[in-house]
Amino acid sequence: MRTADRSDAATDLAGQIVDALIEPVLLLDPNGRVQRANAAAHEWFGTWIDRQSYVSVLRQPGLLAPVEDAFFRGTPGHARFSHSSGAVETLFDVTVTPLRGGGARPRVLLVFRDVSGRHDEESMRRDFVANVSHELKTPLTAMRGFIETLMGPARGDPVAQERFLATMAQEVARMSRLVSDLLTLSRLEGLARRRPTEVIDLRSVLAEAVEMLGAGAEVEDVTLVLEADTPAPVRGDRDQLMQVASNLIENAVKYGARPGGVRISVHRLAREPVLRGPAWVLEVSDDGPGVPPEHVPRLTERFYRVDTGRSRAQGGTGLGLSIVKHIVNRHRGRLKIESTPGQGTTVSVTLPEG
Ligand SMILES: Nc1ncnc2c1ncn2[C@@H]1O[C@H](COP(=O)(O)OP(=O)(O)OP(=O)(O)O)[C@@H](O)[C@H]1O
Ligand SMILES: [Mg+2]
Repeated sequence: MRTADRSDAATDLAGQIVDALIEPVLLLDPNGRVQRANAAAHEWFGTWIDRQSYVSVLRQPGLLAPVEDAFFRGTPGHARFSHSSGAVETLFDVTVTPLRGGGARPRVLLVFRDVSGRHDEESMRRDFVANVSHELKTPLTAMRGFIETLMGPARGDPVAQERFLATMAQEVARMSRLVSDLLTLSRLEGLARRRPTEVIDLRSVLAEAVEMLGAGAEVEDVTLVLEADTPAPVRGDRDQLMQVASNLIENAVKYGARPGGVRISVHRLAREPVLRGPAWVLEVSDDGPGVPPEHVPRLTERFYRVDTGRSRAQGGTGLGLSIVKHIVNRHRGRLKIESTPGQGTTVSVTLPEG
């Protein structure tokens, strides 16, 4: 009797600890059923999971294997787990820990840590300096060639001089864009933990972006269509969200179809499960050739471009989407890129309501 009391008390204490944790946590009993799920886990998986087998709750083979190892071998492990709900996909790093009790099989504790956005950050950092140097070295080498030509063979040739000078002006413009994008990125990193406090209307930001970019798009034979019928209040930094909108629209125009259309819309979600509250979703869709699926997860990496030559030729630095990602993270929002080759690309940004 006293032993039973003690183990009940221990289970209850374990339960209270699980409940107190902020990250989603599941405690599996020795039979592999969910014995305890805290509020965050219920939020993510639903409340139906209580007493269910982990196999039906988790469903992803990558995670089932370490859980089995924990049960049958008593070994701790790690796994990646991705969860998509509504408009966003979240990546978790899951720690799997067997908890030895008195019985033949342990209980198993699963702790889910949200690592979306942190993915590949380490390797990106490693490549960063190399990439910056390379991005600057290419135009600099070209400029040296032009200068030598202007001083030498083209000395008396005004037609060639004009042509080289125009190209040099373009290269210089691209280099200064590169430097200012790098400064923007480093400023954003400094601000990452400070969430914007002002409430702004996302619809008016979009309207301004469409107005600013519409004429340029028309020249390229691309029509911008804005679909937003109500004000969309979000907590945000107006200039930064303007930068998000313009980069997404510019991309859709640059990499979309010719002639083509770009649809810019904003709609409300009464409850976004990940943000746990009302949210506004901004979507920019084009009807261009799209992006092959293997490239999609990497587009927000600094300097990552599907077709480097094409992006460079259009003055791109390959930093646009990584700036967008930083801004969205700072707003505690979510960024999602969906692309179907041959049909088009939709980029959506979900922001908590202000
Ligand atoms: N709507 C789209 N359709 C197809 N590919 C896209 C689209 N948006 C982005 N991409 C791809 O993603 C890459 C990265 O985009 P990003 O905005 O970061 O850089 P960029 O447009 O090349 O340069 P910058 O934004 O500095 O002008 C692009 O080079 C392009 O290959
Ligand atoms: Mg861009």
